[in-house]
Amino acid sequence: MGYSRMNICVIGAGFVGLVSSVFFAEMGHNVICIDKDETKINKINHRNPPFFEKDLEKKLRSTLKKNFEASTNLEYAVKNSKYIFICVGTPSQDDGSIDLSYLENVSDALGAILQRLEKPRTIIIKSTVVPGTTRKVFINRIENKYNLKNGKDYFVSMNPEFLREGSAVSDMYNPDRIIVGADEDTTQENVLALYSKISEIKKIRTSIETAEISKYCSNLFYATLISFSNEIASICQNIENTEIEKVFRSLYLDRRLLINEKEKSAENIGATSYIWPGIGFGGSCFPKDLKALINFSENNDVKVPILKSVELTNNLQSELLISKFIEKFKPKVLGILGLSFKPDTDDIRESKSIEIINVVKRQNLKLLVFDPLVKNIPNLNENYFQNSALDVIQQCDALVIATNWSEFKKVEIFEAINKKKCPLLDCRLSMIDYKNDLLGEYFGPGIPF
Ligand SMILES: NC(=O)c1ccc[n+]([C@@H]2O[C@H](COP(=O)([O-])OP(=O)(O)OC[C@H]3O[C@@H](n4cnc5c(N)ncnc54)[C@H](O)[C@@H]3O)[C@@H](O)[C@H]2O)c1
Repeated sequence: MGYSRMNICVIGAGFVGLVSSVFFAEMGHNVICIDKDETKINKINHRNPPFFEKDLEKKLRSTLKKNFEASTNLEYAVKNSKYIFICVGTPSQDDGSIDLSYLENVSDALGAILQRLEKPRTIIIKSTVVPGTTRKVFINRIENKYNLKNGKDYFVSMNPEFLREGSAVSDMYNPDRIIVGADEDTTQENVLALYSKISEIKKIRTSIETAEISKYCSNLFYATLISFSNEIASICQNIENTEIEKVFRSLYLDRRLLINEKEKSAENIGATSYIWPGIGFGGSCFPKDLKALINFSENNDVKVPILKSVELTNNLQSELLISKFIEKFKPKVLGILGLSFKPDTDDIRESKSIEIINVVKRQNLKLLVFDPLVKNIPNLNENYFQNSALDVIQQCDALVIATNWSEFKKVEIFEAINKKKCPLLDCRLSMIDYKNDLLGEYFGPGIPF
């Protein structure tokens, strides 16, 4: 199919919505990104992304006021667009299920607007939703409340997003796959055509429900690898003389594991970046998606003991490590490097660093923290924040490296830690190869203790 410029509306200017918007604009489409949060929209219109993602600001500058605009006016955007992406949040509720109120509100707003329009629009749900949601919450709702027929008055597609925070822009421009679920072949083709510059072999046409579950399958596969690794690490922690890094590096050499030849023996790329001990997974997706699928399965009388254990292991890991560390070294001033849930992002949602901070606060220790991007945390005294990693190291008597930022692996950091000879809890084992050169005690997941 040849290239044609389309008019696209993206609802939700969060990680998924804003990154998708600049991507579609750079692909040559006309894009209007909508958010109900006026402050966010104003920031975007001043070329100022509301969150950090590498290259996002640059992309915003190159598209804004050309073929990309941000607005709070949904009606204007829908009237002027043929394709409408829904990228609103689906956060966890207390019982683990996803909060569908944002999606419901958007469905209602769209239903009311679509009723007034003559030509059908194609609505594409990108938000992560459990199987059946698109049909029950979107299609049925629009039909019952607004008397609009799917496949006639409008078309629906489910197009899950696989980008990872920290590399969202490059993931969006170079995706592993584009999954498009729809009832009609034509809708599948029309939506896939919006991704015309992405290679055909990456495109998968599916039912709506397949698209919904595929997203969970991917995230929970990686979550499972992480908890599995952490469980092996906990076992090793209690075996004298085990060398945790060698346990995992020998696993990487197993040809059954390696997905392609190029990855052979490579560390921290592909699946192997998830098969490595740590303090568990955080962020806005893995914990939420895990809870949601457990809740969904139990409501459908399906037993999911593996998924439940993945969650349990993940919930235990950080507290287990930090408690042992504090008990053994009894620090008076504890330094923590890294607050975001992973490197290269300023997102602290469900960050394991916050769990560590909560344990430390209960113990009445003095705390010093530094993160390259995170400069405040709700309920954490601003006096705890230091200007640099070196400032933290110089003042603490025990150090925790909680997030794997590359700047914490620099020689000067290593030298400063050595000068202080302070004990180190290396939550992601990022310094494991230098542990014998460290003058202070080294501790981390899987290190006999
Ligand atoms: N963050 C990720 O890495 C990621 C990756 C893949 C999929 N997802 C999924 O994508 C969805 C969005 O995630 P996110 O991280 O971008 O969320 P986010 O919280 O960063 O952004 C959601 C945005 O939607 C806006 N919004 C809510 N209701 C609205 C309405 N009625 N009208 C206009 N705007 C509205 C909010 O103001 C917010 O700016 C979620 O379902 C998430 O699970 C997220």
